Amino acid sequence: MKYVIGVDLGTSAVKILLVNQHGDVTEEVSKTYPLIQEKSGYSEQDPKDWVEQTIAGLSVLLKNFNGNPKDIEGISFSGQMHGLVLLDENYEVLRNAILWNDTRTTEECYEIYSKVGRQRLLKITNNPALEGFTLPKILWVKNNEPEIFNRAKTFLLPKDYVRYKLTGKIHMEYSDAAGTLLLNVTEKKWSDEICNLVGIDVAFCPPLVESCDEVGSITSDVARITGLSSITSVFAGGADNACGAIGAGILEEGKTLVSIGTSGVVLTFEEREKDYQGRIHYFNHGEPNAFYSMGVTLAAGHSLKWFKNTFAKDENLIHILANVEDIQVGSNGLLFTPYIVGERTPHADATIRSSFIGIDSSHQREHFVRAILEGITFSLNESVEIFRENGKQINEIISIGGGAKNEAWLQMQADIFNAKVVKLKSEQGPGMGAAMLAAYGCGWFNSLQDCAHEFLKEDKIYYPDKVNAEKYKDFFNLYKMIYSSTAFLNKELMQYRG
Ligand code: XUL
Repeated sequence: MKYVIGVDLGTSAVKILLVNQHGDVTEEVSKTYPLIQEKSGYSEQDPKDWVEQTIAGLSVLLKNFNGNPKDIEGISFSGQMHGLVLLDENYEVLRNAILWNDTRTTEECYEIYSKVGRQRLLKITNNPALEGFTLPKILWVKNNEPEIFNRAKTFLLPKDYVRYKLTGKIHMEYSDAAGTLLLNVTEKKWSDEICNLVGIDVAFCPPLVESCDEVGSITSDVARITGLSSITSVFAGGADNACGAIGAGILEEGKTLVSIGTSGVVLTFEEREKDYQGRIHYFNHGEPNAFYSMGVTLAAGHSLKWFKNTFAKDENLIHILANVEDIQVGSNGLLFTPYIVGERTPHADATIRSSFIGIDSSHQREHFVRAILEGITFSLNESVEIFRENGKQINEIISIGGGAKNEAWLQMQADIFNAKVVKLKSEQGPGMGAAMLAAYGCGWFNSLQDCAHEFLKEDKIYYPDKVNAEKYKDFFNLYKMIYSSTAFLNKELMQYRG
């Protein structure tokens, strides 16, 4: 039997999957690393931690593997998007990586609009300037840490840096490069125009490759430490959302995905260029010459984790979620907005923060928990609504991530999205997409779609309940009013945050 490895470099952990030719996951290893949050709005990680934990995870995986390491034919990567890893002329890391959920760069977003122009930026990159994207982070370092910026020769995104440390080769692939705001997304090349306007040398941007391109092999040092064979082919991989799409079979027009992890995304496959006027993101897919549109809720699972860590630290999540289905639709009149770290879609606003609206003395903890799940799902439904307003048919949605692990939440998704929600059998998220890129790259299949047919199976379908869907329609309209009612208050509250 032959195998491939999919490495998913997430925000809280790296998850490594060993997958055989039928798509069965025969081993799985996960290793965590810390988030560094010096101030409100800051979110960093030490790239050294990613590399150490990936190598440690691969070593465990290989130790448990009873086959011949040479039978592991390929390895590929998925990773958290947008994070800035700045490298000097010796490709040494210059500072901690500034992550996708760091929102310190509002000034730099204004700078980009004033130098490039909003319409021009949209035309070239198909995306607006958002705090989470990479270019504002590059400009932040340029403006605030010039001594570091002057020593920077190039930059990479998180999983590209890890791949560099495993292969010694510097590359970036299109699906992740699309989230930098420096790529001409439809022409698939770095934009000289944007680089010139913001004062960055285009040579600062690394060489571009396709997600399924073979980009090198494992260095002898890493092979010795991990037990991997140096004949294992290394494929570039993709952004976590592109890999999540591949790993859920979102490979043709009409397919839509909801993924609830730390962040939550709704994404839909796009065969050709589509203009949403920057209301949602538009990125290159891992499938060559295809795209996807995506709305992002910055704190999806993160909102739930915050609640657990703050109010129920010693309980496990399964216990906390146990009573959710006993609470009526609408959490007895309690609404929650999941804006604990600001928001992206549909309100690109770094200063907005969460609210619980309608707290009543009868509310118990389980009402708050249900309200959080409903709030996260409403936020994702705002993206579904934008797709529908732009003519997309959204009748069936594949649900993956933490949100697909709870029956009550899956049914809630079907009711709120008013669409069939499909749960996959042994769903593995972006790590499976990475493994599929390696399987396709190794020539096991003629297309990613053929690979999806072999690897992915449906488990269960959740149909919207007519009565609940109707109730949620009204409740959603109230939810949508919270943003405009609280935006000003939150701007004023900014000055009190540490
Ligand atoms: C997408 C985004 C997040 C991260 C999470 O634009 O910022 O989904 O990719 O890892």
